[in-house]
Amino acid sequence: TKIDPTAVVIFGATGDLTQRKIIPAFYHLRKHGRLPDHFVIVGFARRPYGEKEFRALLKQSLEDYSHTHPIDPEVWQWLEERIFYLQGDLANPEDYVKLAHLLNSLPESKYYKDNHLFYLATAPKYFPIVSENLAKAGLNPQPGISGQRRLIVEKPFGTDLKSARELNSILQKYFPEKSIFRIDHYLGKETVQNLLYFRFGNSIFEPLWDRKYIDHVQITVAETQTIGSRGEYYDATGASRDMLQNHLMQLFSLIAMEPPASLEAESIRDEKVKVLKSVPIPSSEEWLHNSVRAQYGPGILGGKTIKAYREEEKVSKNSLTETYVCVKLEIDNWRWSGVPFYLRTGKALAKQFSEICIVFNRPPCVLFANSTKKVARNWLKIRIQPNEGIHLLFNTKVPNLPALQEAKMDFYYRRYGDHYFPEAYERLLLDALNGESTLFTRSDEVEYAWRIIDALRNAWNEEEVDSIPLYAPGSMGPVEADELLRRDGRYWGPPP
Ligand code: BG6
Repeated sequence: TKIDPTAVVIFGATGDLTQRKIIPAFYHLRKHGRLPDHFVIVGFARRPYGEKEFRALLKQSLEDYSHTHPIDPEVWQWLEERIFYLQGDLANPEDYVKLAHLLNSLPESKYYKDNHLFYLATAPKYFPIVSENLAKAGLNPQPGISGQRRLIVEKPFGTDLKSARELNSILQKYFPEKSIFRIDHYLGKETVQNLLYFRFGNSIFEPLWDRKYIDHVQITVAETQTIGSRGEYYDATGASRDMLQNHLMQLFSLIAMEPPASLEAESIRDEKVKVLKSVPIPSSEEWLHNSVRAQYGPGILGGKTIKAYREEEKVSKNSLTETYVCVKLEIDNWRWSGVPFYLRTGKALAKQFSEICIVFNRPPCVLFANSTKKVARNWLKIRIQPNEGIHLLFNTKVPNLPALQEAKMDFYYRRYGDHYFPEAYERLLLDALNGESTLFTRSDEVEYAWRIIDALRNAWNEEEVDSIPLYAPGSMGPVEADELLRRDGRYWGPPP
C-alpha cells in the first residue's frame, strides 16, 4: 500500500529507543523503498541541540545499532535531510505550540498537512502530559481536519490494571482508540506473525490443536543478559511486568486463540482478548502453588563474573523483585479446558532463546508397552528467535531392531530462501504509518493481561518473605521451576 506523506514527531528523541530502534527502522524502511517521498522526522527533546548535532547523533546511532552494514550513504542522506529538531520541555504547553508552527513551516509541510504520527518514546510518566499538551496545541484529531493524527505509545503500559485503565482513559480523551498504537515489539517479529499463518494456513496442525491431542504447551523467553544499567527501572518492575504481562501473554494468546473471522485487526484482537478472558484467575493460594519467582545470585556466565541481582547498581539490597518468573495457566474454554500452559522468562540464563513447544499426547495403544522406555510424545517446537524455525519431533522405527527412536524434521527460515528479515520496529512503524493496528495491543487486551498479572503479584505480595529463591547465572532458572512441571509428570524442553 502507498503510504500518505507523514510527519513523524518523536518525543524523547535523544533517548535510547530512538537511537537503538526507531532510527535504524526508518533507515531500513527507506532502504527498501517503503517510506513515502514526502516525509519528515521531528525530534522533540530537552537537550540544547541544533539540527546538525541531532543528525550527527542519529548517524552515530545508526552506525552503532543498525542490523545491516555498511550504512548506505545515499539512503542516509535522504533521511538526514528530512530530520529536524525542536528543543522542548514535555511539560510545557507552549513548546507544543512551537511544534505546531514548525510542522506548518517545514519544506514538506504542504504535502503532509495534518498527517502526523506522534511517537511517545519517553518514560511512561510523560504519556498523559504529552497527549494532553498535544491536544492543547490542537495537534490531536479534531473535527474538520482531514489528516490522520496518530499516537504510538511504548511499553510499559501502566504498572497494574488500575494505572493501565487510567492511562487508557486519559489517552482516549484526546485520541480515539483507532489512532492509538500501543507497542509490544514481539508482535513485530516475523516469527510471531507467523503463528497465525502457520496455524491457519495449514490443515494438518489445526485439527490437532486442542485438549484431545495436546498434553500441554510451554512458552519460554530466555535471556542471557543481566539487568546491567537498568536497575532503577527493573527493580520497580520485575519479570512479571517487564515480560510476562506483555510479550509472553501475546505469544500465549496467539497460540491459543480461535480462528478469527478475517485478518482484520479487530477480528484478530477480539479472539486474543477472548483467550485472556477465559483464563480463570486463581486464588492467592493457587497462584503460589502454580508460580515461581526467583532472582539470579552471584556466579559465572559465559566466562564473566556476574554479581547477584541484589548487588546490581540501583537495586535495593533486600529487593524481592523477580528476574525470573514461571507460571502455570489454564484456559477455561472448549478447546483448552484441562490443558496447562507453562510460561517462563528470566535474565542471566544459560541460553538466549524464545520458543513455544506444543507437546502432544502419547499414542493411545499398548503396542510398544514392553519396550523399556515409554513412547516419546510428539513435540512441535516453534522457535521465535534466534535460528528462527519450526521443528517436529516424532517416532520412527530403529532399522534392524524392533524399537522406536525419536526423529526430527527441521525447518529453518534462513536456509529456506534469501529473505530479508526486518526488525520488529520496521514492521510496526510501517503499520502505524498505514493506520493498520493488528500488531498493536488494544486497550482491553492490555487490561485483561493486567488482570492476570495483578492477581499473581497480589499473591506474592501477601507472602511474608524477606527473600525469594535464587538461581545460578548460566542455569535455566531455579529448581522450583523444574519442580512445577515434574510434579505434573512433565519436564521443560531442553534449551536448543
Ligand atoms: C523488552 C524488555 O521489552 O524486551 C527487556 O524490557 C527485554 O527486558 C526485551 O530484554 C527482550 O526483547 P527481545 O526482542 O530482545 O527478545
